[in-house]
Amino acid sequence: AVKVKAKNQLEDLKREGEVKHLAFSASLLASGQGHTGPFNTEITLIFKHVVTNIGNAYNRETGLFTAPVRGVYHFEFHIFGHGSNNPTSAELVKNGEKVFMSWTSQPAGGQKASNGVSLLLEIGDVVFMRMWANSRIYDNQSHHTTFSGHLLFTM
Ligand SMILES: *[C@@H]1O[C@H](CO)[C@@H](O)[C@H](O)[C@H]1NC(C)=O
Repeated sequence: AVKVKAKNQLEDLKREGEVKHLAFSASLLASGQGHTGPFNTEITLIFKHVVTNIGNAYNRETGLFTAPVRGVYHFEFHIFGHGSNNPTSAELVKNGEKVFMSWTSQPAGGQKASNGVSLLLEIGDVVFMRMWANSRIYDNQSHHTTFSGHLLFTM
């Protein structure tokens, strides 16, 4: 029994060790340049240019980040736009509920809205970015519009 317990502990540690290192960073467009939106409804932003995805918790097909382990995670997002009648805005969503948002609006020129948050997530919690209705977001190969997340520590 002691041996089995030790083996289980080892496996737990191994599993924990696997998800201790978790980080992703992605920008919006896989290639080229262009505006996303405006749409008359909110949409999930799918950041397609993935530069880092240690632990594979970010899904580039769906834009969803799924926590593989209970812990405190830090997220940040930088949303760029060209000034117009449409604001540049997006919010970070956890399990369908808005957490923090960024919003900026001016008639002309470049503009950027940013925010960040540290969140205690349970295994399976889902975090993603949602663009507001009537918002317009720009990105190009300079990668202005980005979404990143990191596991700070497990709990
Ligand atoms: C990307 O967009 C910015 C802002 O419009 C512009 O200054 C920059 O030259 C563009 N970069 C590329 C690689 O197209």
